[in-house]
Amino acid sequence: MLLQIPDVISGDALERCRALLDAAEWVDGTVTAGHQSARVKRNEQIPETHPTAREVGGLIVQSLSTHPQFIAGALPAHVFPPLFNRYRDGGGFGTHVDNAVRQHRPTGARVRTDLSATLFFSEPDEYDGGELTIEDTFGTHRVKLPAGHMVLYPSSSLHCVSPVTRGARVASFFWIQSMVRDDGQRRLLLELDRAIQAVGADVPEHPSVVALTGVYHNLLRRWAEV
Ligand code: NI
Repeated sequence: MLLQIPDVISGDALERCRALLDAAEWVDGTVTAGHQSARVKRNEQIPETHPTAREVGGLIVQSLSTHPQFIAGALPAHVFPPLFNRYRDGGGFGTHVDNAVRQHRPTGARVRTDLSATLFFSEPDEYDGGELTIEDTFGTHRVKLPAGHMVLYPSSSLHCVSPVTRGARVASFFWIQSMVRDDGQRRLLLELDRAIQAVGADVPEHPSVVALTGVYHNLLRRWAEV
């Protein structure tokens, strides 16, 4: 399941993040690539201990912690501290699958990558190319979102970033370990949650709203690992 989360960062905060990112010292992106992906990866990154990575990453995690669409869609248990990449001068990232487990070197914390996230910091008209292409069981999706918006997709998906032929594409990327490991179960919970919200808005006093909310929580109780 692909999920677009709008306005994770917006307004003044977005402008401040973008200024910090543009002023940061970027290094060769192969430092965080696995053996297979190092061969197909051509981009730059900000070192994970860089103050900008910590400040902007902190803002992202803080915003997500209260974002209802993110909470409902990801059911997050652990969020990997956000990393940052920049593609330009024909750079791209060929087809690959993300590593199943990521270790955050500064803290040693490990995250099982159930969901991959890309949060765009460049506007689509600032660059040509740079689409994130994701293959899932329902076909191929090409994603290029406004600055401040994020896409979430199963980390098991094959994906790539097309070469950027004009301008620069700046983004944050990171992973989420979900309380519900299985993508299909997570999808059912999200669909049930949305249906309950819709019925609750139309007929707030209907007793089935409480009954269905109970079903939601009892399914979550069966499937969640915390
Ligand atoms: Ni990837």
